[in-house]
Amino acid sequence: MSLPTHIAIIMDGNGRWAKRQGFRTRVRGHEVGVEALRRTAQSCAELGISYLTVYAFSEENWARPKAEVDALMKILVSSLKKEMPTLMEHGIQLQAIGKLHLLPKSAQRELNEVKEATSGNSNLILTLALSYGSRQEMLHAAKALAQEVADGKRTVDSIDEAAFSDALYTADMPDPDLVIRTSGEHRISNYLLWQISYAELLFMPVLWPDFSREHLEEALAYYASRERRMGKTSEQLNEKSA
Ligand code: FPP
Repeated sequence: MSLPTHIAIIMDGNGRWAKRQGFRTRVRGHEVGVEALRRTAQSCAELGISYLTVYAFSEENWARPKAEVDALMKILVSSLKKEMPTLMEHGIQLQAIGKLHLLPKSAQRELNEVKEATSGNSNLILTLALSYGSRQEMLHAAKALAQEVADGKRTVDSIDEAAFSDALYTADMPDPDLVIRTSGEHRISNYLLWQISYAELLFMPVLWPDFSREHLEEALAYYASRERRMGKTSEQLNEKSA
């Protein structure tokens, strides 16, 4: 079965899950969402997936009620402290992308500590997209490249797809092969727009806190059943594999 090297997940549905379970606030959904993330990262590490990138907090999420934003940041800090043994046990390296300087100092500190402590792990690279927006990331890359041209460090002609990819937060990662969005919404919501150009997209009805090993395996089976033509014809692909 062909496995994706890199899975990107839009973890959606925490608020609806909390409401359906009868919790007074949406925060309980985020807390249980962390458990789903732990399960999923462990499963990916066990199954031999190399990269898992999750949308934990978008730039747009800053516009949520302050109490929810504060609660999410608190969950982030406490989860980073709590999950270290799991990351070490499963050989998971933590990374983060996004406008990390906008996060509370406590979250930045904790992120740096966990990144440093897990830097030698290589089973799975788990990347949290935090204060992340794809358009903003591309603007940032375009400005950085323009500045290099202005400084005489590169020519306009040297800006090709590889150079642009290298200017993104994801420079060191292969592009995602599979994108999963939970909760039944069919949107990409400003997530890794450049990087997912050729990815398979899977929209699953399950709410993120309920996402289980079985859902992950269902997604992997879907991925394995797809023929990734990358612009070529089926015949061309079959010739190559014959
Ligand atoms: C979307 O559900 C989920 C989020 C905005 C946050 C996802 C975060 C986690 C799973 C926890 C780990 C990350 C951090 C930052 C601690 P929603 O609230 O939009 O759900 P809804 O669409 O049902 O309202």
